[in-house]
Amino acid sequence: MSGQLRFGIIGWGYWGPKIARNISSLRDAELTFICDMDENRIHQVAMNFPTAQVSVRPEDLFASDVDCVVIVTPVRTHYALARQALLSGKHVMVEKPLTASVAEANDLVELAQRARKVLMVGHTFEYSPAVEQLRELVTGGHMGRVFCVETERLNLGLFRNDIDVIWDLAPHDVSILNYVLGVEPTSVRVTAHGHLRPAIADNAHIDLRYADGATAHIHVSWMHPTKVRRVTLIGDGRMAVYDDTLQQEALRLFDKGADVGADPVVNLRYGAINIPYIDPNVEPLRLECEDFANAVRKGVAPRANGVVGLAVVRILAAAEQSLRSGGSEIALEPATRIRSEATPHAAVDAHAR
Ligand SMILES: NC(=O)c1ccc[n+]([C@@H]2O[C@H](COP(=O)([O-])OP(=O)(O)OC[C@H]3O[C@@H](n4cnc5c(N)ncnc54)[C@H](O)[C@@H]3O)[C@@H](O)[C@H]2O)c1
Repeated sequence: MSGQLRFGIIGWGYWGPKIARNISSLRDAELTFICDMDENRIHQVAMNFPTAQVSVRPEDLFASDVDCVVIVTPVRTHYALARQALLSGKHVMVEKPLTASVAEANDLVELAQRARKVLMVGHTFEYSPAVEQLRELVTGGHMGRVFCVETERLNLGLFRNDIDVIWDLAPHDVSILNYVLGVEPTSVRVTAHGHLRPAIADNAHIDLRYADGATAHIHVSWMHPTKVRRVTLIGDGRMAVYDDTLQQEALRLFDKGADVGADPVVNLRYGAINIPYIDPNVEPLRLECEDFANAVRKGVAPRANGVVGLAVVRILAAAEQSLRSGGSEIALEPATRIRSEATPHAAVDAHAR
C-alpha cells in the first residue's frame, strides 16, 4: 500500500490522545477520524485535531475511508470493535490486552488472516529499547542460562472498575517475558486479593514455570505507596535490572553470580556493573505506531502481531482460572513459537502448526 495512510482512533480517554500524537508525527500518515461514545470527550478533540472528522458512533468510522483503525477503549469492548473494523476492511491495532478471552483472540487472529489485514496489539514495552537490549542479551547467551525473572509493576491506582489488576497491568509484564525469553510458560499460578473491593483484585502475584526449569514471578498492584516498574533477570552468567522509571539508566547489568564447584561452599562472584546506552529520545509508543504503519504498507507482520497478542491473552486467562480455583497451578499447552518475521497471514499459520 503506497501514499498517505489514513488512521482513525476509537477511544479518546487517557491513552487515545497519546496514540494520536504519535500517529500524527508519522511520515505519510494522517489522523482523519476520531470516535468516542462520550460527546464531551469528542468536543475536546476539535481543539487539537480540528481537521479530523469526529463521531460518537464507531460505525461512522468503519464506513469512512480510513485505512487503519486503532482501538483504545476498555478491554471488554476490544473484540466487538476490532471484529467490526476487520469486517469493514480496515487494518487494526488494538490496545492491550488484545481481548478479554482466548476464544475472542483466536477469532480475531483467524479473521485478520482471512481478510488479509494486519492485526496488531499495543504491547508498548516490546518497543522499548531497554527491553530490546535485554532480549538481545538473553537470546545471544550473554546472561548465561536464565534461572528466574521477577517483574514488579506497582503504584497507588489507577483503579479500574471493569477489570482486575491482572488484566490491567500484567499484560505488560507477560508480553515483556514472552518477548525477552522467546518462549511461553508451561504453567501459571496466582494468589491475589481485592483489598478495597473484594470482587476486584488490586494486588496479585503470578508465578510462571518454563519447560527448561526457569521461573518467573509477576507482582502487580494498585495498592502501593510508590511507583515501581522493574524487571530483575537472574542468569547463571550475569544479572540484569531494568527499571523503567530511570530513563537513560534503565538497564543495569551486573557481572555478579554464585558458583558451586567441587567444594560444596558456594563461591560468590563480584564484577563490574555496566549501564548500556539508551537513547532518551526514542519513544516506544512512536516505534509501535511506526511498526503498525510499516506492516500495513509492506504487508508484513508487525512485531506485536495478533498471534503475539493471543499468546498473552492465553496466559492472562490461565491466571484468571487459577485465581477462580483458589490458586491452583494451571497447565498451558507446550511452549510454542510465538514470533514470526513473515507476513501477517504466515504468522498465523506458524502458530497453528
Ligand atoms: N499501552 C499502554 O501502556 C496503555 C496505557 C493505558 C491504557 N492502555 C489501554 O488503552 C485502553 C483504554 O484505556 P484508557 O486508560 O484510555 O481508558 P479510558 O477509560 O480513559 O478511555 C476509554 C475511552 O473509550 C470510550 N469508549 C468506551 N467504549 C466505547 C465504544 N464502544 N465506542 C466508542 N468509544 C468508547 C470511553 O468513552 C472513553 O473515553 C485499554 O485497553 C487500556 O488497557 C494501554
